[in-house]
Amino acid sequence: MFYIRIFQAKIKNIIIYTIKLCIFIINKIINKKTQNNILPSYSPSTIKKSNYMDNKITRLFNIQYPIVQAGMIWCSGWELAAAVSNAGGLGIIGSGSMYPDVLKEHIQKCKKATSKPFGVNVPMLYPDIDKHMDIIISEGVKIVFTSAGNPKTWTQKLKDHGITVVHVISNSKFAIKAEEAGVDAIVAEGFEAGGHNGREETTTLCLIPLIKQCVTIPVIAAGGIGTGRGMLAVMALGADGVQIGSRFVASDESSANIKFKDKIITSNDGDTLLSLKKLTPVRLLKNNFFDQVQQAESNCASSEELTKLLGRGRAKKGMFEGDIDEGELEIGQVAALIKEIKPAHAIVEEIIAEYKLAKEELNKSTW
Ligand SMILES: Cc1cc2nc3c(=O)[nH]c(=O)nc-3n(C[C@H](O)[C@H](O)[C@H](O)COP(=O)(O)O)c2cc1C
Repeated sequence: MFYIRIFQAKIKNIIIYTIKLCIFIINKIINKKTQNNILPSYSPSTIKKSNYMDNKITRLFNIQYPIVQAGMIWCSGWELAAAVSNAGGLGIIGSGSMYPDVLKEHIQKCKKATSKPFGVNVPMLYPDIDKHMDIIISEGVKIVFTSAGNPKTWTQKLKDHGITVVHVISNSKFAIKAEEAGVDAIVAEGFEAGGHNGREETTTLCLIPLIKQCVTIPVIAAGGIGTGRGMLAVMALGADGVQIGSRFVASDESSANIKFKDKIITSNDGDTLLSLKKLTPVRLLKNNFFDQVQQAESNCASSEELTKLLGRGRAKKGMFEGDIDEGELEIGQVAALIKEIKPAHAIVEEIIAEYKLAKEELNKSTW
């Protein structure tokens, strides 16, 4: 009798345990389903209207504000991209300074750090581009910004995998080519911009209206935008969104060396210049290396001599390792306006607040 009771108690425990296990599993399944149903991004119905800017760019990327954080070598890894995406913009990982395995790690970390959309920038002159594209596709990245190359080369393949493709241009000829190649939007980057730049030296103020005349796809303005007023100005010119680089270099989450960030926030107007036009034009912050380039250019140095002067790893040395005298420091004219290193979300919030205020002020004007 005693043994029967023990046996019954054991059976009872097993039944209770099995029921609890079933409830646990059912709950897990229900939770997963609900999580999958939650939109990882914004739409007019899921967010308070005042906090959502409904336009072509927010709809294209499914984001809250039409602010794209530029993909930038040595400066925009997963931390910055995730921070900007979490703040309602579109964060972009800059793959141009990453080996394929490093890019893979950044994409995987970014996916863990944000449930919001983010993208990868791929400069097409990168030697390992096939490997990069394979990783982007296999990791399920949904947005790719291509630059420095022919948009025809990769657009169709990326689009076949359901990827939204944006291409960076600096003149109307390439804007038309990009639209013909089937990209979903273009970044029109003006002369003020940090990083590599168009030879034509067309400023953002002139470029945006020109590009709006020759394409029908959405246009994202880049170059010289670091404030809400700057954003409002280019939107008034017809841009559908903005791509901001330099301002985000001076953010907590950017992987730029702190010495480079400090040099940016203490720089003044006139401290950057478009250099190395014989090779690939790039806007540099003045330092010893810049002086050497200037000297060589004024002595009519050949491309070979300039390539030798540039050497290998100059950009890493300056922007990532913090050799602010001998390294290459890429930054835009807007650096002169940047006076503080801030968290990326604070930069996004500040730009949006200033944009709204400036717009209200303009609305109040009598004509
Ligand atoms: C440090 C730095 C690195 C950059 N690297 C890249 C890059 O790898 N690929 C690219 O398409 N553009 C690159 N750019 C250009 C940016 O994507 C962006 O278009 C530009 O910074 C916008 O102008 P702004 O600096 O005035 O905001 C870089 C810009 C900076 C400042």
